[in-house]
Amino acid sequence: MDPEEAHELVAAGARFSQLVPFADAILRGTFEFNNPRLHVRVCGIDFKNPIGMGAGFDKTGELYPFLSNMGFGHVECGTFTRHGQPGNPKPRLFRFPEQAALINRMGFNNPGADHAAGCFAKQRHGAIRGINLGKSKVTELNDARDDYLYSLAKLSVFADYIAINVSSPNTPGLRQLQEKDRLADLLGAVRAQCRVPLFLKLAPDLTESALDDALGAAEGKCDGFIICNTTIDKSSVGSDLEGGLSGAPLARRSLEMLRITRKKVGSKVALISVGGIGSAEEALLRIRAGASLIQIYTAYIYGGPFLPATILRGINDFCSRENTTVNDLIGVDAK
Ligand SMILES: Cc1cc2nc3c(=O)[nH]c(=O)nc-3n(C[C@H](O)[C@H](O)[C@H](O)COP(=O)(O)O)c2cc1C
Repeated sequence: MDPEEAHELVAAGARFSQLVPFADAILRGTFEFNNPRLHVRVCGIDFKNPIGMGAGFDKTGELYPFLSNMGFGHVECGTFTRHGQPGNPKPRLFRFPEQAALINRMGFNNPGADHAAGCFAKQRHGAIRGINLGKSKVTELNDARDDYLYSLAKLSVFADYIAINVSSPNTPGLRQLQEKDRLADLLGAVRAQCRVPLFLKLAPDLTESALDDALGAAEGKCDGFIICNTTIDKSSVGSDLEGGLSGAPLARRSLEMLRITRKKVGSKVALISVGGIGSAEEALLRIRAGASLIQIYTAYIYGGPFLPATILRGINDFCSRENTTVNDLIGVDAK
């Protein structure tokens, strides 16, 4: 089946489940794994566990109630842009099952900030909700700031945290917002208007000096970093398809970038690690390297709905054996 059609089918099932009485409790009973050892406190927010759904799975906001019942401690919804937009022509999502990878060039297909606000206004609060913001395709790069500010004004009231996405490879010019002057300007303006913790999501393709510049420009303007988005380096799957690569082949670079970032920003700045995580071992590596939270996306597509509970059970077993907690494990290998 076409991967995007498969996603739409799952989304339709998820939306339907939201209409069925007691479905919430049944889903939670089936897919959740809870233990106090898994609790983490990040930027003043209590997360029941460190695993979140990465941005891009719930591009409309409609799946948030469903995903809240599927074992995730947080769900990052979006990317949302000021203007609703259809994204790139299909096909735009490609599977590489042998490498447990995906290439996508979705291009921020989303209903726009106003529509998303209407959707969130009807929902109850479930898991911690991150709201990820990007630039509309029709907006010139020099006007990007107003685009983000518009979406922020509409959506931050529904957000436990905001993620600023300047790193998707599928919106022309977007990643130039990672350049230090543009970034300082954008984050300064967003920070001034944002009343919840603010995260910046960066690309794995930044050189070490570009990463240095971006972290410097963001200093004091955001509470944490999400490391990382998809990569344009597709050599690991031998493909020249346009788009960003995610999944297992991204794990090495994502961990490396996490370690570099942690070294540069220290332990006071929160880090969310995402990219190629699909097991408790990989999740523990990231937490020990300094991630307070982790996110999954591609491994969920291949691993299915029990993946969060499987990873959490593995983390919990480790913590129980070592008589420790996730909170205490954060950054132990970075000291
Ligand atoms: C189909 C697809 C769509 C995505 N859309 C977004 C998006 O809209 N915004 C964003 O910040 N990241 C987006 N991502 C990136 C993921 O959030 C994540 O950073 C990346 O896939 C690496 O994690 P993974 O290896 O666990 O998939 C998308 C990824 C995929 C596979």
